[in-house]
Amino acid sequence: MTDHKITIAIDGFSSTGKSTVAKQLAKELSYVYVDTGAMYRAITLYAMRKKYITKDTFDEESLIKDLPSLNLKFAFEASRGFAAIYLNDENIEDEVRTLEVSQYVSRVAAVSKVRAKLVSQQQLMGLEKGVVMDGRDIGTVVFPNAELKIFMTATAEERAKRRFKEMKEKGQEVSYDEVLKNVEERDHLDTTREDSPLVKADDAIEIDNSSLTLEEQFNTLLNIANDVIAKPN
Ligand code: DC
Repeated sequence: MTDHKITIAIDGFSSTGKSTVAKQLAKELSYVYVDTGAMYRAITLYAMRKKYITKDTFDEESLIKDLPSLNLKFAFEASRGFAAIYLNDENIEDEVRTLEVSQYVSRVAAVSKVRAKLVSQQQLMGLEKGVVMDGRDIGTVVFPNAELKIFMTATAEERAKRRFKEMKEKGQEVSYDEVLKNVEERDHLDTTREDSPLVKADDAIEIDNSSLTLEEQFNTLLNIANDVIAKPN
């Protein structure tokens, strides 16, 4: 029974606090945490540096050509308490969190060849179960057979408020209106793209955390996870 590891898929809109609770759960259960959004952000940062993507243009073909040479990995960093994302051995954890990357990432994440590469890497990372993975398509595409699927929601205003606070704390120069606009634009692009749009899996448990504290949210999810883990496989 103690070896009964499961796969926990956490999907939902941007800035719903998926990664916060996913990290807490992974730590509590001694599972591996995988932030799939960071992987899409890493490819986006690469495309921005190469000027393949700008405000008005997107050279998808050049990006697709370079995909085989892009090596993504996570490595645990004690000072952060979680694994940071690396692109070709460069730690880009801070750089992928800027508003600029957030403004481009949904366009890059809509490219099927980008998704195919990242989905297969994610499936390998979760092969042995004991994983908490958060993203947009984890319960629908990456692990359709996950034992536990969570779908997180909260109002756009609440999410923008949280994201704004987080960015300010990191010293980033942004306005609340810019952040709200980005949240709304990404909701639209992520839910309307052709390949793997953000949708709630039929068997996912929906949690609206607009009025939950972090502690309430964590306890709710931990109880649900422990119930699933305790069930015989
Ligand atoms: O979770 P995040 O905000 O860091 O994700 C950044 C973007 O990446 C998000 O707007 C949509 C995309 N994404 C995706 O399409 N599929 C995933 N599994 C994770 C993220």
